[in-house]
Amino acid sequence: MCPPTYYTVNYEINPWMNVRVKPDKQKASAQWKNYYKLLTKLKFKVHKIKPRPGLPDMVFTANAGFLFKKKFIASNFRYPQRQGEVKYFSQWFKRKGYEVITLPQNYLFEGEGDALVIGDTLVAGFRFRSDIHSHRYIGDAIDKRVISLELVSSNFYHLDTCFCPLDHKTALYFPAAFDKYGKKVLNHLIPNLIKINNKDAMNFCCNALVSGKKVVMNNCTAKLKGRLEGLGFKVFCLDFSEFIKAGGSSKCLALYLH
Ligand code: ARG
Repeated sequence: MCPPTYYTVNYEINPWMNVRVKPDKQKASAQWKNYYKLLTKLKFKVHKIKPRPGLPDMVFTANAGFLFKKKFIASNFRYPQRQGEVKYFSQWFKRKGYEVITLPQNYLFEGEGDALVIGDTLVAGFRFRSDIHSHRYIGDAIDKRVISLELVSSNFYHLDTCFCPLDHKTALYFPAAFDKYGKKVLNHLIPNLIKINNKDAMNFCCNALVSGKKVVMNNCTAKLKGRLEGLGFKVFCLDFSEFIKAGGSSKCLALYLH
């Protein structure tokens, strides 16, 4: 995770960002600390990377890259505003002993934001941020089959805003973020595919951090919480309002390291 020291909204690269609607600094800091505290209380081991001035979106560490065993595949961000993050994330992983893999420059890829593993498959999103041709490269590097899905709604510009694997056969998804074919593929691939409604989708409920039976997400409807609890998940809801102003929530604010 990356502390929100320099977090703000001073450019617009997704429909949630509006330079005239700034996050409240104190509130953002309190929300981030609450989240960090909850994760440590839940026995996650959280590493922090030093935030850098001029890189406000560095808090969204999920976009740093994609990890597989001791390999770190660094992102190639679409927008120049985020490209400066790459060198700091790569340095961090190199120092920790990971093999840092860089993609050819014309392969746009935004890390775990657009690439999520379920069972033995890598589900990867493309169009708004990552390019489809980057997917095969990632799949080859990690030796998994890849299913590429086109994202069709600009509010759900990263895969992790509209799709969330919960275990090897269960996932949340927001159908309207996918085309007819994408919906068909997901239904075929995932035995327990749970639709979330518009309200939960706009509250970033697919953008949940999951580990074992623990799920941490922005405040959701009682219906969704009940559904997940019925499946044996323990749901922790926190307020991420200040980060939603930049288009991210719990999942975007962390990158899985194992
Ligand atoms: N403002 C950031 C961007 O548009 C938000 C990133 C959210 N991250 C994510 N994994 N969905 O790039």
